[in-house]
Amino acid sequence: MSALNINNLQNTFQDALNFGGSPGAVSTSPTQSFMNSLPQRLNAAKQQKVLKPFSTGDMKILLLENVNQTAIEIFKQQGYQVEFHKTAMGEDELLGKIKDFHAIGIRSKTKLTAKVLEQAKNLICIGCFCIGTNQVDLNYAADKGIAVFNSPFSNSRSVAELVIAEIITLARQLGDRSIELHTGTWNKVSARCWEVRGKTLGIIGYGHIGSQLSVLAEAMGLHVIYYDIVTIMALGTAKQVATLDELLNKADFVSLHVPETPETRNMLSAPQFAAMKDGAYVINASRGTVVDIPALVQAMKANKIAGAALDVYPNEPGKNGAGTYNDDLNSWTSELVSLPNVVLTPHIGGSTEEAQTAIGIEVSNALSKYINEGNSVGAVNFPEVSLRSLDLDQENTVRVLYIHQNIPGVLKTVNNILSNHNIEKQFSDSNGNIAYLMADISQVNQSDIKQIYEELNQTSAKISIRLLY
Ligand SMILES: NC(=O)c1ccc[n+]([C@@H]2O[C@H](COP(=O)([O-])OP(=O)(O)OC[C@H]3O[C@@H](n4cnc5c(N)ncnc54)[C@H](O)[C@@H]3O)[C@@H](O)[C@H]2O)c1
Repeated sequence: MSALNINNLQNTFQDALNFGGSPGAVSTSPTQSFMNSLPQRLNAAKQQKVLKPFSTGDMKILLLENVNQTAIEIFKQQGYQVEFHKTAMGEDELLGKIKDFHAIGIRSKTKLTAKVLEQAKNLICIGCFCIGTNQVDLNYAADKGIAVFNSPFSNSRSVAELVIAEIITLARQLGDRSIELHTGTWNKVSARCWEVRGKTLGIIGYGHIGSQLSVLAEAMGLHVIYYDIVTIMALGTAKQVATLDELLNKADFVSLHVPETPETRNMLSAPQFAAMKDGAYVINASRGTVVDIPALVQAMKANKIAGAALDVYPNEPGKNGAGTYNDDLNSWTSELVSLPNVVLTPHIGGSTEEAQTAIGIEVSNALSKYINEGNSVGAVNFPEVSLRSLDLDQENTVRVLYIHQNIPGVLKTVNNILSNHNIEKQFSDSNGNIAYLMADISQVNQSDIKQIYEELNQTSAKISIRLLY
């Protein structure tokens, strides 16, 4: 892939100043905004130089699957050309189209296979406007020097709020009362219905979602304990416990927020249900494999567990529709749905308008930063490298972005090429077979740029090069 457009060589510093969309001016996700603004605040007296990879008219982005409108706005603010489609594209359609684009934004339905990526001659980066990245051949993309970004944490708050709702729903048997009334039965009962105030919530996995949940639960008067494989500082008055058993012995509500790993598979099974308090509740909005559902069914039938809320399942239907959640999917389905006080939701923990907006902002900012500055922090298949921005007074400074095979001796060759100039700063990192070098070099004039590009282009380990100035 040749990322250097020869027209760039005519780009002047004044062009860069006229460039409308400063990456620093782009709005960021709420969780990032404060951290992102820190360097600007600390460096208020110095204005940042806006780097320019292509003339803005040249930068083409293909957005598929109705990605959030915020993404379109952010890319247009950058001056990029955006082609937007509401639906996914199949392999044949992509094969004819993808070569024209420098970036592509997808959700989960568009498959970016090796065959498609092979045709993506100009593609620099891919944005998955969702959590998962299985739809992209990540290794092939990395081998081609294409960085892939996603948005793993934009919906943490949405999941935490759903769990809060489920805690009260289970404690008050709201699901059952609602179903009864929908079918004409008035059943005003208070037996085994509880306030949540003063009860103990046990959170397994105190990461992005678990810790959000902790704060919300304390506000409702719950005591919070948590178990995690790493030691994590508690928020509020929550307390970390040393073992899973200790959590299970003490908690009235147990909520799981762990990733899917071999260690978390069937993390709650018959022995763990036996270790729980009589009448405890189980909530799983993490991954479908972490709860042994047949064992949960048995524990509920034995009145050991008083209720359960499940949002995720070992097998989930591929699309919405009646009759898709059945025994063919998971053999225990009909037994589970027949139990009282079981709240079942179709993997909607992160499905809110706010989460979609946050995903749109997070992924489009990540792509813009990578395109405009070379910053690959957050890439899932690629070395994560970043350099602080250039200042406005750094004229004749060029940022070199050199993606290469991770083999011995490459940096020696590259630094030899750059050594006629002042290397102001550089950072390199590797991930598997791929390595990525960012370097800011000063005292470079237009003819030097061309020469540097050509010399780097001839290095045998090169995968792709971009020069920003
Ligand atoms: N239901 C939904 O729609 C939805 C939406 C987003 C995320 N999720 C899922 O929620 C889960 C948590 O997401 P997150 O963003 O909080 O992840 P995270 O990576 O921020 O936190 C996970 C925590 O689990 C801990 N952990 C890992 N293995 C553990 C083990 N064996 N025992 C105890 N703790 C362990 C980690 O140390 C970490 O603190 C993930 O499985 C994610 O896929 C579900």
